[in-house]
Amino acid sequence: MNENNKIITVLGTGYVGVTTSAILSNAGYTVYALDISEDRLNALRSGKSFFYEEGLNPLIKKAVDDKTLIPTSSYEEAVSKSSIIFSCVGTPDNPDGSSNLEYVFGAAKESAKFIQPGSVYVQKSTVPVGTGKEVSKIFKDLDVSYTSNPEFLREGTALFDTLFFDRIVVGGNSQQANNQILEIYKTVEQKRSDISKIAGIIGKEISGEYISTGLDSAELIKVTANAFLALKISFANSIAKLADKTDANVVEVMNAVGADPRIGRAFLNAGRGYGGGCFPKDVSGLIMSAEQNGVAMEIMEAASSVNNEMASYIVNNAKAKIGKELQGKKVAVLGLAFKSGTSDSRKSPGIKIANLLVNEGANVNAYDPEANEEASKDLNGGVTIFKSLNECVKDVDAVFITTDWPEFKEADFSKIADLMNGNLIVDCMNCIQISNVVAANLKYLGVGRK
Ligand code: UGA
Repeated sequence: MNENNKIITVLGTGYVGVTTSAILSNAGYTVYALDISEDRLNALRSGKSFFYEEGLNPLIKKAVDDKTLIPTSSYEEAVSKSSIIFSCVGTPDNPDGSSNLEYVFGAAKESAKFIQPGSVYVQKSTVPVGTGKEVSKIFKDLDVSYTSNPEFLREGTALFDTLFFDRIVVGGNSQQANNQILEIYKTVEQKRSDISKIAGIIGKEISGEYISTGLDSAELIKVTANAFLALKISFANSIAKLADKTDANVVEVMNAVGADPRIGRAFLNAGRGYGGGCFPKDVSGLIMSAEQNGVAMEIMEAASSVNNEMASYIVNNAKAKIGKELQGKKVAVLGLAFKSGTSDSRKSPGIKIANLLVNEGANVNAYDPEANEEASKDLNGGVTIFKSLNECVKDVDAVFITTDWPEFKEADFSKIADLMNGNLIVDCMNCIQISNVVAANLKYLGVGRK
């Protein structure tokens, strides 16, 4: 490895930035992790991430102790010493569904003040196709190459996905710069068994694909991948609604349909729909950027509207089972993170269901093993948060399981039955073994699953 290429700046210490920094700083690089939030930087300085992600803290701790991970808020300190800058800043959505690119442009402009000639500026944040062409103008006269290197990691399995990646996509106008970035991932691949040991992650020893493309293609690859996965989920949910009207079971249907390798079983799990910081935003972002280019993306509009309706579809089905009225009923919502394995509760279907239940007049208890604190700001005033499953389900008429945490999937349903007042379990992710519920003399309600 060329010594000059060993210093990297990662802009933004969100989910992608922290994971990228933790891995690169354990793979032989010195990484400046830059953020404007002192809270996030202080968490890193103390060897921790501000969010829960399995295996991450031991990597941060080691790299901070070894001084290969340097948290900083100074562009000058970080960027002027680095030959590669990864931009992982946030791209929140605007009220109209488009991506807010203020931070993407702001970080590039600030970096341009200190960036060294010959450096590569790498965009990892998910941006609408065409953004890179605009951002790269900032570096036009600076002898800096611009590439898009979209991130495919999932929260909850962020380290696994980054170390044992399926593919790395790098897209830009300079093949040399593309190769330079691909080399970084080859180094990660070589060192991944050591890194995964520190993190306590077990991976698969197969090689991922290295894909070099044009700039616009790389940007569109990322959004297309997320949109397609969201489409699969909404498709499964549409079939689940039909299954509910017949004697079909959507899990049986998808198991058999997904056995066809042309289709694949992944992301065909029907339930309360997708949430999180990525799918909802990327779907609306794709619709908007298509519209700006004069293309109607009806297929994604349909996926989005199916998704938006799933929470009320489930609440209405539960209402019919409980006996029409939720007014005055006491219910528990288990799961406030947008999925298991994370403390992230952005656009969480569990929060949406809890708030809908409050609007229906129910008294709502809620519990999540990791997301109680983060979710509290988005929960309606009528929701009471509990610190344990047992406290949460005490005396309730119905339990809604909205996130497939192992604690819920493997729960002792006879104990839950003893604690409850009523007898309805609403499995909003089709993740519970029905026989466990039935054996506890409880009633089961799934989504397209009898
Ligand atoms: C997603 C993509 O899977 C990653 O590849 C991508 O890098 C990331 O977005 C991103 O753009 O940063 P993530 O949002 O962490 O990752 O979560 P997923 O595991 O994809 O789940 C998204 C949502 O879909 C969750 O609410 C999950 O519960 C739901 N889901 C997933 C279903 O309802 N059904 C399924 O079959 C699968």
